[in-house]
Amino acid sequence: MSERDFVVQRTATVEERVDAIQAALKDRGLKVDEAIAELGQVATEQWTPQNGARVVARAWVDPAFRQRLLANGRAAVAELGYSMPKHHRHLVVLENTPTVHNVICCTQCSCTAISLIGLPPDWYKDLEYRARVVRESRTVLKELGLDLPSKVEIRVWDTTADTRYIVLPERPPETAGWPEEKLAGIVTRDGLIGVARL
Ligand SMILES: [Fe+2]
Repeated sequence: MSERDFVVQRTATVEERVDAIQAALKDRGLKVDEAIAELGQVATEQWTPQNGARVVARAWVDPAFRQRLLANGRAAVAELGYSMPKHHRHLVVLENTPTVHNVICCTQCSCTAISLIGLPPDWYKDLEYRARVVRESRTVLKELGLDLPSKVEIRVWDTTADTRYIVLPERPPETAGWPEEKLAGIVTRDGLIGVARL
């Protein structure tokens, strides 16, 4: 094989592929650098787990909102001023109960309801989590610190191109009477993903 053949057949690195896509977009007059900077700013400053936490807290204190949230998540979070990217056409809210625990993943890559949960943590994108959580969810959850009783059924939800999920954790009994804002303070990103209980 000549050196030229080797160059042709070598798989481009991620960096080279990113550069090639950016160059192609720029050639078509698209402002790539500005768009990336804007997306990065929105993702880190506006799309945080506190958004999902406020949704959960409202669902805990307002049964009518909870019903609307379970019926049509996307419409219900919009009531609180939270938008979702256009391609997140459906938001399915998964309600934990004393006997059912929900956990989400994206077996393909790293998708979440990013505007409500925030950027996915590294372990969520890890091939090991994505592959194992669907096959041995109880073990994976235990490794992540959540040891569920055997009577609790675990349901794993794999994100699709147009459907996003968040977990609606059970409200801890000791929080009776708490105001909504204080309740939102105890809802964590991991609780919204379903790898922790509150
Ligand atoms: Fe994904």
